[in-house]
Amino acid sequence: MNEQQRVDALEAQDDQPVARDCRGPELPRRRQLLKGGLGAAVAGFFTVPVSGCDASSPKGVSPAMPAIGFTPLPPQTDMTFDRVAVPEGYSARVLYAWGDPVGDGAPAWQPDASDDWRDQMQQAGDNHDGMHFFPFPEAPNQRGLLVMNHEKVSLNFLHPAGPTFRDGADGRRFRPEGEVKKEQAAHGVSVIEIRRQPDGVWDRVMDSPYNRRITGMTPMSLRGPAAGTAALKTASDPDGRTVLGTLANCALGFTPWGTYLACEENWPNYFVNRDREDYVTRVAHHRYRLSQEQNSKYFAWESVDPRFDATPYADQPHGGHVNEPNRFGWVVEIDPFDPDSTPVKRTAMGRLVRECATPSVAPDGSMAFYFGDDTRGEYIYKFVPAGRYQPDDREANRHLLDDGTLYVGVFGDRGKGQWKPLVFGEEPLTPDNDFHSQAQVMIEARRAADLLGATTMDRPEWVAVKPDNREVYVTLTNNDKRGREEGQPINSANPRWENEHGHILRWREKGDDPAATTFQWEIFLLAGYPQGSDVPANQIGTIQGDIFSSPDGLWFDPAGRLWIETDYDEDSPNHQGMGTNQLLCANPYSGEVKRFLVGPKGCEITGITGTPDGTTLWINVQHPTLSFPASDGKTRPRSATVVITKDDGGVVGS
Ligand code: FEO
Ligand code: CA
Ligand code: CA
Repeated sequence: MNEQQRVDALEAQDDQPVARDCRGPELPRRRQLLKGGLGAAVAGFFTVPVSGCDASSPKGVSPAMPAIGFTPLPPQTDMTFDRVAVPEGYSARVLYAWGDPVGDGAPAWQPDASDDWRDQMQQAGDNHDGMHFFPFPEAPNQRGLLVMNHEKVSLNFLHPAGPTFRDGADGRRFRPEGEVKKEQAAHGVSVIEIRRQPDGVWDRVMDSPYNRRITGMTPMSLRGPAAGTAALKTASDPDGRTVLGTLANCALGFTPWGTYLACEENWPNYFVNRDREDYVTRVAHHRYRLSQEQNSKYFAWESVDPRFDATPYADQPHGGHVNEPNRFGWVVEIDPFDPDSTPVKRTAMGRLVRECATPSVAPDGSMAFYFGDDTRGEYIYKFVPAGRYQPDDREANRHLLDDGTLYVGVFGDRGKGQWKPLVFGEEPLTPDNDFHSQAQVMIEARRAADLLGATTMDRPEWVAVKPDNREVYVTLTNNDKRGREEGQPINSANPRWENEHGHILRWREKGDDPAATTFQWEIFLLAGYPQGSDVPANQIGTIQGDIFSSPDGLWFDPAGRLWIETDYDEDSPNHQGMGTNQLLCANPYSGEVKRFLVGPKGCEITGITGTPDGTTLWINVQHPTLSFPASDGKTRPRSATVVITKDDGGVVGS
């Protein structure tokens, strides 16, 4: 196994069917149409049957549901395929690939990857992931800021001849400083200004003052209940309020006041604690599965950057950097409209291996941000700010994410759901259970959620909120340990033994109130092969239409089409016939699914956003392995943002 395969396998880790009736009752549902996205609600009532895991169960069809009109693509099973394909009548072109200059004056990408870390600081990061389009109000469908995460690095391609690991005498591996710095510079976030030319083609605005790279080295502040506490202080930051960089930014969120939320996912893989005795007693390390070997799990940065050595050193202030891992796992709020702003890590939202932070906003300005902790058998959460969004006062919204309540989800039988608050002092989060402050509850959020009886889920990835009624959808990408690992028994919300292909679950808050503490859930679909396929029964799904596995990215377009992005190993025997990773479009009422896009060999499809009028869609192609986007069979492959438009200028998907 080479270094890249080892890293890929680590990421995949983090993480017979049960014939059960998971249909709930027919419920009256309240439908609220939001004017202008966040405006006043127009209330009406209609009945949507709550379907179950049985694909044959009836589903309501909304007369308002827009058509999904394209001719779907077949699965792309040619394992030399090295392009992006979209249906007839659509065009897809690359807008922003790893190494592209972020603005005027930045160095051009070198095809031999000889760019150094200083160059990389001014170029597109690697492994593009979650992404959001912030339109300029005066021309919302022609101009705006595209903000995206760079989740990690493809080591084999980032450096001219692959990564250098030198073995030391004590079993530790060592890295060259220049390579580590280039890797840190290739992480983080990009902000780029883009515009639609008169001929309809989207282009970069290279001299935009908004163009910006945020990296694994950019200073950011810590705020909220954990900021400044002893658990956040290190030898490098004795105040516990300033941290360098954001890492492992997977999916995303955004706020109605126009800021971007980068979420820190697989950060534990960047740290090591070699003190076995300390490790077992330190919840903030072992409950998040930091390495306790000689090196961190991913890149051995600790060999040149002491911040990533989380072993306690009694002779150093604050134990050295034993607390550095407590400064990751947060939501990072970034103001893309202020290129000089300092990103802020919001500790009120809990410390998790967090995929996303998807907003739901009620007409009165009350809000929830939904997210999953993407590891096998971890939980789904929401954060409800104490304050309300004020549309006419951006300054008043600036620190709304510092004060609120974090809840964890309990997905009970017969579709009954409950949100349990992670509040210090409320049972069981008391000194009797070794909780002594709200800061500790946030830092050890996983242990708090354990005590609250949260439901273990099959690797929650993206969350999407339906624009008309705030119904919430989540991808549960897969969990091959479901039903066979202690603590992860089959339950009604995760009903498949060794869930190889994953599922999509949805819920409706009581009263459609983002702050409600109860909800009604159901399974939208189980991914996998159609009925009658010659595969083990736990690989049979309920998809009505085109097959896929391992749903990951999930997004509603403004008209209410549900877009699903996949992340599975196309070479695995369990994915025969599914082809390369894909983007599909689903009708949330009928459950119909159509394959819209197939990607190049080796990639996952992730990141998705669009213009308010629906005529442009952007997606990200992450970690292709052949030569995309050059697609010439020789140039090293690069993660890239792809822009998709309909040739007649119409709405994508219509
Ligand atoms: Fe980075 Fe859970 O995907
Ligand atoms: Ca993901
Ligand atoms: Ca994934």
